[in-house]
Amino acid sequence: MRVTALLLAAGSGQRFGAAEPKQFLTLGGRPLLRHAAEALLQEGLVDELQPVCAPEHAARVAAILSGLPARPPVAGGDTRQDSVRRGLEALARSDTPGLVLVHDAARPVVPRGTVAALIAALDSAPGAIPALAVTDTLKRCAGDAIEATVPRDGLYRAQTPQAFRFPVLLAAHRAGHLGATDDASLLEAAGERVAIIPGAEENVKVTIPQDLARLEQLRRATLL
Ligand code: C5P
Repeated sequence: MRVTALLLAAGSGQRFGAAEPKQFLTLGGRPLLRHAAEALLQEGLVDELQPVCAPEHAARVAAILSGLPARPPVAGGDTRQDSVRRGLEALARSDTPGLVLVHDAARPVVPRGTVAALIAALDSAPGAIPALAVTDTLKRCAGDAIEATVPRDGLYRAQTPQAFRFPVLLAAHRAGHLGATDDASLLEAAGERVAIIPGAEENVKVTIPQDLARLEQLRRATLL
């Protein structure tokens, strides 16, 4: 069964505050987007990549992914959810895969074994994601004052890549729920089971400059 990975690179990276979107920032001299692509392909289980980016970045994205099995980029939308939907619709119009992974280009590290574990989990559920148990004490606040302490039992942080049976994810996106910040939540809204596999601390989503500094340290320590 063919496995395609959507590689999301259509964000503007406003929270990071750099001159250009964070997927183009470099780690060890190579763009985060290239790291993310190679990380997805490293186990040989993903057949092809479908990048999603702003139309003005299409040539740049294609150049960064040159030499890898990547389709021509698809234009993204205003929100992450929109961008995924556009990528899925492009796949639905051509050689539809059996399984699809959705991954943030701003996550350059996907530990070896993650993709295999996700695909194995799809034997018993239509969706699977890497997640890490929350270890900090959680506070709900209004302004600078605490309103409540939220019990952390059973709470997890969701990461990407997230893996799905393609028709189930497409249907969940077409159902039209708004405001999803990941794809698993759309399956949850549709009453579909989503399994979790162990996530990893090194699977950092680059959001603020400190994240890149942390990855740079990790790279020096492990020659990432
Ligand atoms: O903004 P956030 O950190 O949640 O973005 C996660 C990923 O989604 C990034 O790789 C970003 O490029 C992508 N994204 C997108 N289209 C958007 C917003 C974000 O592809 N409109």
